[in-house]
Amino acid sequence: MSQKRPGAASSLPPRPPAPPDTSSIHPTPERDPTPPRKRRRVDHMPFLASSDPIRFPIQPLSRFQGASASIKRPREIAYFSYDENHEYREDDSGISYYCPPQIGANLCDGFDTFRHYEDKEDPHLNSLLRTLVSQEKRTGERVQADFVTWRGMMTKIMTAPFDMFAAFDMFATLHDGTIYIEEDFETRAAERAAESAANSRGPPRPPNRHQPDHKMMTYWGYKFETLSMLPDTPENTSQDFIANRPKAPVSNHAQHCSIVRTAFGSSSLILGGEVDGLSDPKPSNPDLPIPWVELKTAEELPLRPQHRDILKYERKLLKFWAQSFLLGVPKVIVGFRSKQGVLRSIDVYETGKIPGMVRRGTACWDGNVCINFAAGFLQFLKDTVKGEGVYKITLRKKGGVVEVCKVQEKGTGDILCSEFLEWRGKGNGTGDDGEVGVDDTQRENEGEGKVVDDGIRVTQHQAVLS
Ligand code: A3P
Ligand code: MG
Repeated sequence: MSQKRPGAASSLPPRPPAPPDTSSIHPTPERDPTPPRKRRRVDHMPFLASSDPIRFPIQPLSRFQGASASIKRPREIAYFSYDENHEYREDDSGISYYCPPQIGANLCDGFDTFRHYEDKEDPHLNSLLRTLVSQEKRTGERVQADFVTWRGMMTKIMTAPFDMFAAFDMFATLHDGTIYIEEDFETRAAERAAESAANSRGPPRPPNRHQPDHKMMTYWGYKFETLSMLPDTPENTSQDFIANRPKAPVSNHAQHCSIVRTAFGSSSLILGGEVDGLSDPKPSNPDLPIPWVELKTAEELPLRPQHRDILKYERKLLKFWAQSFLLGVPKVIVGFRSKQGVLRSIDVYETGKIPGMVRRGTACWDGNVCINFAAGFLQFLKDTVKGEGVYKITLRKKGGVVEVCKVQEKGTGDILCSEFLEWRGKGNGTGDDGEVGVDDTQRENEGEGKVVDDGIRVTQHQAVLS
C-alpha cells in the first residue's frame, strides 16, 4: 500500500546526548511561591474560589527520561456513533472501512457543498457518560477508573512537553473516586473565533492559488476521509461506488467513537474518541487489537527535503502518534498533498514504529518522555484534585507550567450530566468493589521497563514502542 516514504530520515544528524537525569519523575505539587497574578474571570463557573494555582512544571524534561512508566494496551469497552444529523446512536452504524483512495484526486473538489458540523453548544462528556451508563445497565458492573475524559484532552497533555506553543484550558472534578476532565468549551470557542477573525481581517483578497485559505485546508482532511472510506467493507461494495467516491458529498456529521480502558503508570483511564475506520472487520475476540486506521493529510515533502522540512513533518508525526496511540489505533495512513491540495501519494505507518522513526530522524520528540510526562501529570492531578468542586487546568502558550486551581467550591459544574448523576446517585455501581482505580491487569503490569501488553515496551533507554 505504501507508495512513498517522506524524507530520508536515517540520513539526518544523530540525536544529541540526553542531559543528565537530575530530578525525580513526579515533582511534588507546589504552591505558587510568586504573588498571585490577576486571574481571568470564569463566567460559566459562578462560584469562583480563591485558591492559588498549584503548578506542574513541564521543564526540565530530563526528569521524564530514563525510568519509564508502565502502560497498558487500550481495550475497547464500549462505543457509540453519531448519524448523518449528528444524532447520538448507541450502535456501530458510524463505522467506516478503509479502501485506498484514487491518487491524483483534487481535495478541493466539493468544498461548496461541504456539510460542516461544529459544536454550537458545549458537548461536555455527555455522549461518553451516556454510553457508560448504558454499559453499566447492561453488564450490572460499574465502569471504574481514576480518570474519565475524551482522548483529545490526553493528546494535548501527552504532546505538551514537545510543543512550546501548546495551550489548553480544561475543567476537572472528582466524583466517587474518579476524576472527570473536559475541555473548557467557551474558552476554546472564543479562541477559534479569534483565529477565524484574524484569518479574515483586512480588505477582501482575491483568491490566491498559492495560498489556499484556512477553511479550505480544514476541508482537505475531511475530503481525504471521504475519498478513503466506505460504509461497508470493500468486498461488500460495488466498484461503481468506489469509483464515484471523488464525487461523493463530504460531511463530518457522522462519526464513530470508541471508548477504551487504558493505564499510564498507576493511573487507570477511560478514554473516548473518534476513530476514522477499520482496515479489516472487527475481530469477534475482544482480546484482539481492533484494526482501526487513523487518516491524516500532510503537505508532500520537497524532492530534496531540508532539515526544516523534515522537522516540520516529524512534529506533525507527534500529534498523529499520540492521538492514535491513546485509543490503540495500530495504523496511521497519511495522504500527501501538493500545496494546492492534489492528493499525490499515501503512506501507511504502524503507530508503534513512529517514535523510532523520529528518533532516527530529527529526534525532535521522544515517545517515552511523552508517556512519562502524562503518567507524572496524572499522578499530580490525583494529588491535587482531591476535594469537592470544579478545578481549572490551564497551560498557556510558552508558559512552561500547567496550573490547576479551584474555580468552584461545590458540585461538579456541568462536567457530569444529570443522566449520569442520577444513575450513580441511585447507588448503581457505587458498591464497595475494593480498590479504586487500579484493575488487576494493571497491577500485574506495574514495574519499570516491563512489557505490559502485546509488545508495547518501554525500557529505560529506549524511546521506541516496539
Ligand atoms: P487532517 O488531520 O488530515 O488535517 P482527525 O484526523 O482528527 O480525525 O480530523 C479530521 C480532519 O478534521 C482533519 O484532517 C482536519 O481537516 C480537521 N480538523 C481536525 N481538527 C482540526 C483543528 N483543530 N483545526 C482545523 N481542522 C481540524
Ligand atoms: Mg483523521
